[in-house]
Amino acid sequence: MKIPLFDMTRQYEKIREEVLETLDNIFKTGKVILGPHVKALEEELAEYAGTKYAIGVANGSDALFLSVRALNIGEGDYVITTPYTFFATASCITRNGAKPIFVDVEEKYYNMDLNKVEEILKNHPEREKIKAIIPVHLFGKTIDLERLQYFKEKYGVYIIEDGAQSIGSMWKGKKGFSVGDLSITSFFPTKNLGGYGDGGMVFTNNEELATRVRKLRVHGAAKKYYHDEVGFNSRLDEVQAAILRIKLKHLDEYIENRIKIAKKYDELFKAYKLEKYVEYPGVFEDKSHVYHQYVITLKKGNRDELREYLTEKGIGTSIYYPKGLHEQKCFEYLGYKKGDFPITEKATETTLALPIFPELTENEVEYIVESIKEYFNN
Ligand SMILES: Cc1ncc(COP(=O)(O)O)c(C=O)c1O
Repeated sequence: MKIPLFDMTRQYEKIREEVLETLDNIFKTGKVILGPHVKALEEELAEYAGTKYAIGVANGSDALFLSVRALNIGEGDYVITTPYTFFATASCITRNGAKPIFVDVEEKYYNMDLNKVEEILKNHPEREKIKAIIPVHLFGKTIDLERLQYFKEKYGVYIIEDGAQSIGSMWKGKKGFSVGDLSITSFFPTKNLGGYGDGGMVFTNNEELATRVRKLRVHGAAKKYYHDEVGFNSRLDEVQAAILRIKLKHLDEYIENRIKIAKKYDELFKAYKLEKYVEYPGVFEDKSHVYHQYVITLKKGNRDELREYLTEKGIGTSIYYPKGLHEQKCFEYLGYKKGDFPITEKATETTLALPIFPELTENEVEYIVESIKEYFNN
């Protein structure tokens, strides 16, 4: 059997006709930059997320970068974030001239440890320079939104929710993106709402911030060719917006399928008595986890060996992430060292992402878990 980590071709079969017809219509009108589909997607996604505004941009990394810029965070400022995330969560801070303060994650779900965040908010010697927190809803699991709201009110910091992996997720019935002064998502093809290329979106309830991001994405010009500030070229592509609108109609069903697949994995890990070897996420209430990734942690055995074994069995896997951001060469100047974030560092050696996408079949999940069982029983 061959099971890829992610396969977008199965989904394409189901929406192919609608996609081709829509693209044909776009090409016939010639409206390919910031056309009606971008505008419509912004309205539809703002409604889906429950925010007043949504602004389409070129990708999730830019969505973060423009959010930091819109809050006027730069030289001399600090932003708290996690070292166990995709690079863009931290580079959006340094690209704006500010410095990240990394905070270790908690075990199992690997979201930022909010107790440690509060310690920093209370005790940091340059507390007044900490302007924002960028929490990540890692792998699709929402972080505690009530606690973030409390940080905002008590410590007067901005929140930028990095929801690149978590569109549609909730915290105790409260939707993700509801606390962030700005929140973002990514439409990278593998994401739960993935395009056929790059794309991203910024969400906010603040009209002024929405206007600023809208301006920043077109070279800082509120009126074409009249530049209030130096902005960027970061527009969401019309073709991507049109495809995303088709997929958005199915997003809840895609998420339900991912949750079903995760449940199946969990059941099999239990049934095959693999719990002594494998820690799995196991969260299903209220879409608090939308399973962008199904990531297990090995309690015993060697992760890289298991990965090799699965590759031989035709099963695609991935490592998110093989190195903490505090250990990246480009961030050496921040002064962190190995040992600073033990949970992150352990996770880089013990976690493994298994295949998950809405069209993955039960038989395939069975084959994957059986193969893991074989590895441990050999
Ligand atoms: C947590 C996180 N933040 C930011 C991004 C950046 O998104 P993009 O790849 O669309 O630039 C990603 C996507 O890879 C991500 O996973």
